[in-house]
Amino acid sequence: MKLLFLGDLVGRTGRTAVIDQLPAIVETQQLDFVVVNGENSASGFGITEAILQDVLDAGADVVTTGNHVWDQRDTLVYIERQDRLLRPLNYPAGTPGRGAHLYTARNGAQVMVANVMGRVYMDAMDDPFARIERVVDDCPLGQVADAIIIDMHAEATSEKQAMGHFLDGRVSLVVGTHTHVPTADHQILPGGTAYMSDAGMCGDYDSVLGMEKDEPVNRFQRKIPGNRFTPASGEATISGVAVETDDRTGLALRVAPVRIGGRLEPVLPSFWQS
Ligand SMILES: [Fe+2]
Ligand SMILES: [Fe+2]
Repeated sequence: MKLLFLGDLVGRTGRTAVIDQLPAIVETQQLDFVVVNGENSASGFGITEAILQDVLDAGADVVTTGNHVWDQRDTLVYIERQDRLLRPLNYPAGTPGRGAHLYTARNGAQVMVANVMGRVYMDAMDDPFARIERVVDDCPLGQVADAIIIDMHAEATSEKQAMGHFLDGRVSLVVGTHTHVPTADHQILPGGTAYMSDAGMCGDYDSVLGMEKDEPVNRFQRKIPGNRFTPASGEATISGVAVETDDRTGLALRVAPVRIGGRLEPVLPSFWQS
């Protein structure tokens, strides 16, 4: 199967780049399944139901989130009827929505997607390792699921790497989100799981994490909040990771970064059509 995962959409520039360009990418590359992290797509904070629908209509099969999932208050309500929107799995019992789900891909295959949040330098959550293990045990790769994609939303690269190795051989892809900066450590781990510490953001990289840079620079210097954070509005770079999996085992055969447009050096997988 041909999978694509895109990192956090930040603001209007990030989401419109993906909404405008994803349909052609899906068509040209004959992608079977696409996951997009949407936690910053509404002015940098959360996601509205209208934006969710636009991203799904553009070709995303699932939209994941993270610590910003509830920034738009309506999300607590509409997430119950939107099973293609995931929030972190390791929120307390009774939290609205779901953190993992099994979906049918365009080619008829079964794809499990889970969204889990780290605990290092982030608000305390339930143990992400124990929670994800239960979900993966219930949906074995190569038996129930043809592919399994894990969005590990976390600050610390150590915790993300640990999750990669913890799940190695049991899932197709462990990819980090949340730092908004793409890493260059994409690889297939010894057990066959594709891994990348962070997918980067889909947003304007002339910024601080996708936000207009003046206010973040001011806060670091003065420690006094001045203005609100607003998303930077220059041309976005679409940033993520592409994976090809073995149809029989569900494990990764190839993994490569994807960067399109904006300020970062462009790169497309060698196994994509040019
Ligand atoms: Fe984010
Ligand atoms: Fe985040």
